[in-house]
Amino acid sequence: MRINMLFSVFIFLLNPTIYIQSGGNMNIDMVISKTNDQRVKNLAIKFSKIFDETEVFVARSPGRTNLIGEHTDYNGCPVFPMAVDRDILAVCSPRDDKKVVIYDYNDAYGYKEFFIQKEIPSSATGDWGNYPKAAVQGLINYYAQTGKIKFDNLNGFNAVITSNIPAAGGMSSSSAFVVLSALLLLGANNINEDKKLLASLMAKSETYVGTQGGGMDQAACLMGLNNHALKIDFNPLRVREVIIPSGYCIVVADTLKKAPKTESALQNYNRRSIECKIATALIKKAFEKEYERIFPITALGDITCERLGLSEAEIDKVLDSALHKNFYYLDEIASILKLSPDAVIQKYCKMKDGQYLDMPPEGFKLYQRFYHVMTEWKRVEKSVLALESGNVKKFGQLMNDSHFSCRDNHEVSCKELDVLTEIARNAGALGSRMTGAGFGGCTVSLIKIDKVMTFIEKVKAKYYDSYLVNNAPELLKNASGDPIFMVYPADGAGIIKGFELE
Ligand code: GLA
Repeated sequence: MRINMLFSVFIFLLNPTIYIQSGGNMNIDMVISKTNDQRVKNLAIKFSKIFDETEVFVARSPGRTNLIGEHTDYNGCPVFPMAVDRDILAVCSPRDDKKVVIYDYNDAYGYKEFFIQKEIPSSATGDWGNYPKAAVQGLINYYAQTGKIKFDNLNGFNAVITSNIPAAGGMSSSSAFVVLSALLLLGANNINEDKKLLASLMAKSETYVGTQGGGMDQAACLMGLNNHALKIDFNPLRVREVIIPSGYCIVVADTLKKAPKTESALQNYNRRSIECKIATALIKKAFEKEYERIFPITALGDITCERLGLSEAEIDKVLDSALHKNFYYLDEIASILKLSPDAVIQKYCKMKDGQYLDMPPEGFKLYQRFYHVMTEWKRVEKSVLALESGNVKKFGQLMNDSHFSCRDNHEVSCKELDVLTEIARNAGALGSRMTGAGFGGCTVSLIKIDKVMTFIEKVKAKYYDSYLVNNAPELLKNASGDPIFMVYPADGAGIIKGFELE
């Protein structure tokens, strides 16, 4: 390494080492003149026009695509996503006061600012300013609980951000933004933090925005590894890195139907999470009735032989009759749980923003949700084994089965997702499914690399140029950029550690 400070290309914090390491401050002019990343260069130029700071750092937070394991994470059951090469980037500098100022590179979105304080008031639902607030509030709460740092000692930051993750498309653009905001606060205050801890913390913090999500997005975003998918287990958070076999690739296609987790999709998503919680409570009752003892069941993911001290056959015996297949009404749930209907609402139907779920007039579908989660859990385990043993065809079938269960049992798909996955299968995908929360957004497909170009052309012709044109032309207006593209498994979020000294 020469001392003459010959700066070379940007190097990213590649390794998902245990720590998010702060530091990496650079001179902004140096960033502008030396980076070979056009997005970073543009951001830095914009930053220098808005702010007067000369010392900056750069952070990056990727989106993710979930290969399989949908709507399992909030049940404590595993998921199998990968961080992708689409990300949200920031150029940032610390401030010496408590203000956070964030500009979007796209002038259309303007800027947001707020102060670091004990309780940060949230903005209106749907306002993008809530994402950085969620991250900052989450860190403040954690440092207050652990007594590690007083919020009074945290300084704010100035940042300009840009994202190429499709918004509201099931690729976790919001969690990537929350994680990025946490990195900016940590970077601006020179704090290093454990990635797993940060992933769990940010999963909790995102409820500030109103979703009752699980921990998949934040964990995938932080723990991603180049070339690998991640089998993520929860409670405690564990990650197994699984290589994507060479010769195959992953293609994401946007239905162009937007499903922002701030609008009706939020109610739909939260309803699934509530139905799973009620199903869990009824199943716990069934175990207790059968075995006349208390069981440590707080989520469907707790139903394992080890945790319950029962054999598979003993567990199956209870599960086979714990739930019926008809709709459940509040009165029936209340009577099984020996609670008043009002107590059921208080205990299970309150959402994170303090609102209550609108009671579904047709009742709750508990068996169907339970069935989806338990079978999807098995599909995740089988998928990992299939990929590890090179059985890509099997993995493709599991992806298809997952889509059908999301459609028929969890009912989180929509017409566009069903049509697009079907077109993808006919165009040569080994497997194709919705990815993310659903109700719109993206699909993910597995394809042999030598077939990918014809695959993309076929899907474009059949879905965008034909199906949408004839059936939902208004959705075409949602296209910004290419709606179908390959994604590569990428490294997790981090602070870019400056230029490499030669
Ligand atoms: C959203 C949530 C995740 C997960 C998926 C569905 O993306 O943020 O936590 O629940 O939906 O699998």
